[in-house]
Amino acid sequence: MSASGEVWAVLLAAGSGTRLANAVGGVKKQFLSWKGFPLFWHSALTFSKTPAVTGIIFVFPPDQVDEMKEVVADLDGTDSLGMPFKVTAGGKRRQDSVFNGLNELPSGCSHVLVHDSARPFASAAMMSSIVDMMRNGRDAVIPAVEVTDTIKEVDGDIVKKTLVRSSLKAVQTPQGFSLPVLYAAHEQAEKEGWDVTDDASMVEMAGKNVHICSGEEGNVKITNPEDLKRIEEDSRILPCVGWGYDVHKYGAGRPMVLGGVPIPGGPEIIAHSDGDVLLHALADAVLGLFGGGDIGHHFPDTSAECENMSSGIILKEVLVKAEDAGIEIVHVDMTIIAQIPKLSPHRELIRKNVASLMGLDKNQVNVKATTEEKLGFTGEKKGIKAVAAVTGLRKYS
Ligand code: CTP
Ligand code: MG
Repeated sequence: MSASGEVWAVLLAAGSGTRLANAVGGVKKQFLSWKGFPLFWHSALTFSKTPAVTGIIFVFPPDQVDEMKEVVADLDGTDSLGMPFKVTAGGKRRQDSVFNGLNELPSGCSHVLVHDSARPFASAAMMSSIVDMMRNGRDAVIPAVEVTDTIKEVDGDIVKKTLVRSSLKAVQTPQGFSLPVLYAAHEQAEKEGWDVTDDASMVEMAGKNVHICSGEEGNVKITNPEDLKRIEEDSRILPCVGWGYDVHKYGAGRPMVLGGVPIPGGPEIIAHSDGDVLLHALADAVLGLFGGGDIGHHFPDTSAECENMSSGIILKEVLVKAEDAGIEIVHVDMTIIAQIPKLSPHRELIRKNVASLMGLDKNQVNVKATTEEKLGFTGEKKGIKAVAAVTGLRKYS
């Protein structure tokens, strides 16, 4: 293995995430979704943006390797790493998983970056500086940050010793090694039964120098439930309002229906669909919440399919579109404008029916009715109009 050979990453994702399991319903932390990808994929993307890195060995829990081969291939298909990779099975302890990963490295590999997929925030710049130090002859380079707490060695609840903080560092991954040095340390660890929590420990125990470089305060390991807030989706909820307006002409046609409620004795309506002026205005208002156009576009009156179409169905379809756009509807206010018929006897029933169609409480729906003082076409009893305003909350992430 030449000192100027390839640098590969071993990305560890074979742990069971026991400290976090209860808080996330048993999902292994490396598979938690963050910004549209499983957590482990973020580190893979960072390696792919580190020019000195040639390829990646993914290490997954043994019983999930087959499934993860497909997942990684799919992720690479959507957002290509642009580098070779392999998927392999981890072991019982972290150090077993690393060793399995090392055994998958190609013969041209001279250096390796071992990284915990539970550290998704490590930067490509830090990875590059670790590789630079190795290229300059260091066999082991690990990122380290200052310790801010005073650290004590304890036995049960008794303090045995206070360590000198100025000589302490907290270390992170990726940890960079010359492959022969790390491989030999792993073989020795196996032979002598060393049980360690990072690779640098075994290289130190094997008597080699391990160098530190500047770590990153942000490069935290997602370990305990309180760390989950770091990978919560950064989302904002903003209010939105949609407005709708519709008119129908009176004349021999269809019996009057308003808000899905039949209005016995009301003038007949000329209409292509069921002529429910109120639900049409409401459906347009729902579309307005998310820039969804208008019902004329989605349900053209030139279409045979829309002939006699129930406005309840139109409303249901636009509600699904609003939900798909990430909108929660919280309020509806509507006004029916007509000289005839008298609407006050029907108002409560319309309110109840609209609330049920919208999946809202009755107190989130208001129905008003007015005349136009005998002015205009409603005043002349030639037709009816309705307006609706819908308020929603839209989630942006
Ligand atoms: N890891 C691994 N194989 C193991 C144990 C750990 O690949 N047998 C990986 C984890 O997936 C993680 C990294 O090593 O990315 C650091 O380990 P840790 O934070 O301890 O993760 P877990 O072991 O999964 O968590 P816990 O200790 O809470 O069970
Ligand atoms: Mg662990």
